[in-house]
Amino acid sequence: MQATARANTNIALIKYWGKRDEDLFLPMNSSISITLDQFYTTTTVQFCESISADLFVFNQQLANEAETLKVTRFLDIVRKMAGKEWFALVHSTNKVPTAAGLASSASGFAALAAASAKAIGLDLEEKELSKLARQGSGSASRSIFGGFVEWQKGTRTDGDDSYAKPILREQDWKLSILSVIVASREKKVSSREGMRRTVETSAFYSGWLETVERDMEIARAAINERDFERLGEVVEANALKMHATTLGAKPPFTYWQKGTMEVMTLIQSLRAQGMAAYFTIDAGPNVKVLCLPKDEQRVREKLLMLSTVQHVYTCHPGSGISFLPTSKNKKIPYDLESDRKDICYLSR
Ligand code: DP6
Repeated sequence: MQATARANTNIALIKYWGKRDEDLFLPMNSSISITLDQFYTTTTVQFCESISADLFVFNQQLANEAETLKVTRFLDIVRKMAGKEWFALVHSTNKVPTAAGLASSASGFAALAAASAKAIGLDLEEKELSKLARQGSGSASRSIFGGFVEWQKGTRTDGDDSYAKPILREQDWKLSILSVIVASREKKVSSREGMRRTVETSAFYSGWLETVERDMEIARAAINERDFERLGEVVEANALKMHATTLGAKPPFTYWQKGTMEVMTLIQSLRAQGMAAYFTIDAGPNVKVLCLPKDEQRVREKLLMLSTVQHVYTCHPGSGISFLPTSKNKKIPYDLESDRKDICYLSR
């Protein structure tokens, strides 16, 4: 009744932007990502017949009610699938550098899906895990797999054909992804709210939908052929197009900050000088730069010369979900009699 899983985060190459069903997390368009090797979430789930509420400990701190509710909502899906009514102790740690401002919902829900399904006794294959993780956060569906991953949008209303699958394994194409930190404040518009507002009000959203499947085809082919420049071009153009839709929303918004634009300008000027480097940006101000391993050091040095750049993390394609042994002497201690508020830690 206890399991531990680890999932890496991912960055989108062709963006998931907009939902056709908010409850089931069904996307308007298919998307492609790279799972990274540096940033991950490790989660232990322990189902207990004798507790009367879920408990969620995040980074050694008892989570607040809102965070716990998100976990409970997700565990309800797992409980329903297993036909069990047990509550759970969930202990999660993020290995994302402090204040890096990197999205962790992808690794968080992928790890929670894998650990909770295993702990409750469901024997799910990766495709089913992807569908499950999707219902916590759309991008989590892709973190089940390593390397280059495609999340096919599907067309069914029950979401049964909306899941991710691998395109290329992490060891099959060793690109470099530089994660460039220009700001660490929490973003003002969450990706959930951002995509909702864009779908409902943006004058440019129809243009996004008309062209994104073509971007998918180009990116898929470029990955299969290991054509870096073709991939880089479509990735950068797709990111700019996604961010353009936010400017056409009512009220308009942008995730970009001064540093975001400085990094974009630098990358485009490096390219004009003959270096193959391309950028992409998810729903926040930080930038990810794609380049070949031979150029990694030079691009990194150039980035660090910008005053707005706080840190550059060098990543490569990483692996999919993994299960870790939960050793006997690492059991989560808890006090069944105590009030939830009195439980100050659940360490492992
Ligand atoms: C811009 O997966 O965080 O990063 O499904 O609402 O939890 P929810 O959104 P989330 O959105 C990610 C948006 C994106 C693009 C992407 O990762 O494909």
